[in-house]
Amino acid sequence: MTALLLAALVLAAPPGETRPSTEILSGRVPPARLIKLTRGINLSDWFTQPPDDPEKHLDPNNMAKDVALIKAMGFRHVRLAFGDATVVDPQTPAILNSEKMKRFDAALDMLLAADLAVVVDFSPGHDYKRAIEKDDAAVENFVGLWRALAKHLASRDPEMVFFELLNEPVMTDSARWNVIQKKALAAMRESAPRHTLIATSAEWSECYKLELVEVVADRNVVYNVHYYDPVRFTHQDAPWVGDWVKGLRNAPYPSSPEVVAKVLDGLPDDTARKLMINYGKEKWDAAKIEEILAEGAAWGKKQGVAMTCNEFGVYRKAPAADRNRCIEDTRKAMEKFDIGWCMWDYAGDFGVATGKPGQRVADADTLKALGLMSGKPKSRPPLLKGGRKFRNSLKERKGY
Ligand code: BGC
Repeated sequence: MTALLLAALVLAAPPGETRPSTEILSGRVPPARLIKLTRGINLSDWFTQPPDDPEKHLDPNNMAKDVALIKAMGFRHVRLAFGDATVVDPQTPAILNSEKMKRFDAALDMLLAADLAVVVDFSPGHDYKRAIEKDDAAVENFVGLWRALAKHLASRDPEMVFFELLNEPVMTDSARWNVIQKKALAAMRESAPRHTLIATSAEWSECYKLELVEVVADRNVVYNVHYYDPVRFTHQDAPWVGDWVKGLRNAPYPSSPEVVAKVLDGLPDDTARKLMINYGKEKWDAAKIEEILAEGAAWGKKQGVAMTCNEFGVYRKAPAADRNRCIEDTRKAMEKFDIGWCMWDYAGDFGVATGKPGQRVADADTLKALGLMSGKPKSRPPLLKGGRKFRNSLKERKGY
């Protein structure tokens, strides 16, 4: 870090506020913030992936219930995804809409008041991400949106609020992504000198793309991956994944030729049977998951940067006990390698909670897999008092 940047950081602390921590001054993400970036849950449906009835999700009473449940479950942070339509209008893609921001700010207030840290994650639709892949004007709008949003959020506590550049860039051109990433991070820094920023790799934030990421000079940046292996298990028969997992029902975890043999008869066709047989031969288990995450962690170590994995999880159509085992193995591997984590997701298809907005309940077995509860609770968390029971249930797909 240059002397100039250090001086800028010190001067940037508003009067009466604490100076940047020694970690920031010496060019590191403060350890207390890295702890906040463990035990997270994706709050995916407040401002993205519009549910059947968005108004129900954004009903303040239902939101308050979500926040209380998330807190009671023991999470430290939420990843609050937002689309471009949440903050700007299509005609003015780099200017914040003040009415829309009121709603977004109110949601942030609610989460912070519950002492939940928040990763503010820009998660626009596919078209937006495809546009920045090719079109430099679209890149300018993306950078401009972050310039405006970071300025708007600059007064938020940097110990509690994190800015994540982009959810799963789809572009395959890592060199182009590195340039865009650097530019957008610099735009965020213009008015938010003390916040921790979250960067990622091209191509869906896959671990194996990390090698191509150019680490920026700014050291108060965390590098993030998404981890869904083995996809044939975590996304079994998921309609949005398509042929790769089509018809794969009741896929077990761990996998071996012997265990998959037991479910072959129940599969709809030969294609699904072939997929299942291959999945069995691949022998997925905790050691294999560790091996992949170890590679990501090794990259972080080599680069001297902190790492998080803010999406992992298993579709609720997977057999429940195996689903929880896979979640537990993945979470433990991340903890072993000091990778912060955030499970996908709160109450969607991969949820740690089930039920409709306003009536959500925790899945105790998934919480246990996340290390947040030791089995069936003896005393229920506050929100679950009054007759509601923990339950495992499959949630109907929303249909993308
Ligand atoms: C997507 C979700 C999807 C999840 C698991 C996320 O990145 O935004 O739509 O359900 O991954 O595939």
